Amino acid sequence: MRFPRSGSSLATLVACLVALVTAPSAHAADPPLRDLADAKGKVIGTAVTGSRLTGTYGEIAGAQFNWLTPGNAMKWGSVEPARGSFDWAEADRIVDFAEAHGQEVRGHTLVWHSQNPNWLTNGTWTPAQLSRLMNDHIALEAGRYKGRVAAWDVVNEPFNEDGSYRQTLWYNGLGVDYIAQALTAARAADPDAKLYINDYNVEGVNAKSTALYNLVRDLKARGVPIDGVGLQAHLILGQVPSTLQQNIQRFADLGLDVAITELDIRMQLPPDTAKLAQQAADYKAVMNACLAVSRCTGATVWGFTDSDSWIPDTFPGQGAATPYDENYAPKPAYRAIHEALGGTTAPPTGACTAAYSVTSQWSTGFTGQVRIACSGAALSSWKADWTFGAGQRVTQAWNATCTQSGATVSCSNAPYNGTVPDGGSVTFGFNGSWSGSNPAPTVTLG
Ligand code: G3I
Repeated sequence: MRFPRSGSSLATLVACLVALVTAPSAHAADPPLRDLADAKGKVIGTAVTGSRLTGTYGEIAGAQFNWLTPGNAMKWGSVEPARGSFDWAEADRIVDFAEAHGQEVRGHTLVWHSQNPNWLTNGTWTPAQLSRLMNDHIALEAGRYKGRVAAWDVVNEPFNEDGSYRQTLWYNGLGVDYIAQALTAARAADPDAKLYINDYNVEGVNAKSTALYNLVRDLKARGVPIDGVGLQAHLILGQVPSTLQQNIQRFADLGLDVAITELDIRMQLPPDTAKLAQQAADYKAVMNACLAVSRCTGATVWGFTDSDSWIPDTFPGQGAATPYDENYAPKPAYRAIHEALGGTTAPPTGACTAAYSVTSQWSTGFTGQVRIACSGAALSSWKADWTFGAGQRVTQAWNATCTQSGATVSCSNAPYNGTVPDGGSVTFGFNGSWSGSNPAPTVTLG
């Protein structure tokens, strides 16, 4: 739930508060994602915001995921806003929460060009000073969490799209050697943490991922400590790279782990049934590509709810990129992850049901309705399917879009009634034709 920015009406604020109060609790499929992932020895993680780890947000973060990544709390600008003045509160909170919930932590991130403190960015440093600053920062932060962070994104986003090195404070001051220095410092600070280089647009085989490949191959050959690569996977609807699995495999073949570190799949708003179905297929494709390669450790989503996603702020008009909607209702993408991890193919939310009834009937026609009700679960979109057993045909529907092919009818929500909150229901109706008999079919909710 995003609160309205200044200038929004009181009515909007009240609507937000009501929605908050009535937000469905953390009901999703059983077993939770983390149990399925644990059984496969895989990571299913989420980025989190420390201040939100209470209530429904905290329940879901704790119940569904086996790894957490601080979305911002461990970045240099967060932990040392003024030189020598440290703020570990949010990072500590996340690490404590993870330990209390039996979760691992992915540290993010030690050396980056972005979200650095102003004192660092605006300073003028000799190479020796810069090297000292970087090494001290790594020693301090990775040392602080020694034994409590399972993997570190040591270096974040070192490449340009064409595979050349990004011109950053670090590269410009220290040359490409800053990467080896950073990894070496991280290993010294926490010998048990897995050390990663993490980047975006490196999911498929392309110039950028090939540059990353060449870098980590050379680092390994030189004996520089490197355990894995992070493929961020900030993807666009319908655009999962076809070479994703091949790309993961080539890194694995170097003897490196591969992690999907920041998975989200954005779409043009508003979402609709077709987009959410495509998104679910995309999430499943990413999960399957990872699961097909034993050295792919698993996937972390970059925020589990659309209310905690960076997308709308960065790509105006786009969003709905995560597996849960803004009111914590699991989306088809959640189900896709669940299924990819080996969950059953039961309907998305076990406690939403559909009931078919004939409300009136005459010599050749009838009026029917389907009521979809949720209890202990919620839906953000729905599809109700059934197969007529006696030649009936739907001739007209309302409050849903229905198509019939042979005996099979498929009805999906109208733009205005896709949401079925916990404890709520929606009903749609239709007219049909029949002859002989008019038995009620069983409706499947998808
Ligand atoms: O904390 C301040 C708040 O006090 C202020 O009122 C507000 C005003 O806009 O800004 C808040 O800070 C924002 C911060 O997120 C926390 O919400 C920053 O403006 C905003 O720039 C920052 O965005 C983060 C972004 O990194 C910065 O590049 C996103 O949350 C975070 O999800 C995103 O994460 C990165 C990964 O670290 C690396 N890969 C790409 C990914 C997406 O950009």
